[in-house]
Amino acid sequence: MLRFLRPLRFFEPEVERILDKNHTPVSVIASKESLVIGSGEVYRIKGDEGELAIVVHDNYRRRGLGTLIMYMLFAEAQKKGFTKIHAYTHETNVPMKRLAQKFRGKFISMIEEDMYDFLFSVEEAIEAGARALREKGIVVKPLAKILE
Ligand SMILES: CC(C)(COP(=O)(O)OP(=O)(O)OC[C@H]1O[C@@H](n2cnc3c(N)ncnc32)[C@H](O)[C@@H]1OP(=O)(O)O)[C@@H](O)C(=O)NCCC(=O)NCCS
Repeated sequence: MLRFLRPLRFFEPEVERILDKNHTPVSVIASKESLVIGSGEVYRIKGDEGELAIVVHDNYRRRGLGTLIMYMLFAEAQKKGFTKIHAYTHETNVPMKRLAQKFRGKFISMIEEDMYDFLFSVEEAIEAGARALREKGIVVKPLAKILE
């Protein structure tokens, strides 16, 4: 509900849209064995502006996975040319509001009375996210370094 911001009757069409590269230019999947335990996507709104969505499996929350997925989303989005990204969040969504704060999202406006529109500068979010990960003791090496 908090991920899609509406109740879903049919889940498969949403999954197909997420897996469609034309609809979802950036996606990050966290998996453990064969189970997907988290995912994040960035959709293009227009030009260099996108919108993100993220979810972590109930059993794996509050361990830093949301922070890691957010960081990877921004890093991948930058490679695809995004410079600004929105996140629409229900006003009661404490963890997402915390993530927005950590990644220096700026509150833009309320939408439909109970939804926050946060706007991130991709560059600033990457810098802030790297700091947040370090504070959690999570080390992310750039791919080039891993392949050296
Ligand atoms: C939002 C969400 C992805 C966060 O995932 P997560 O793996 O728990 O994230 P993290 O562990 O990195 O925590 C992020 C921050 O939120 C805080 N937090 C997480 N859950 C919290 C809760 N229930 N109450 C208060 N703070 C919370 C964490 O303490 C952390 O802050 P800190 O670094 O200062 O300690 C997860 O709660 C979720 O899937 N929610 C449902 C879907 C959703 O709301 N998506 C967002 C809209 S697109």
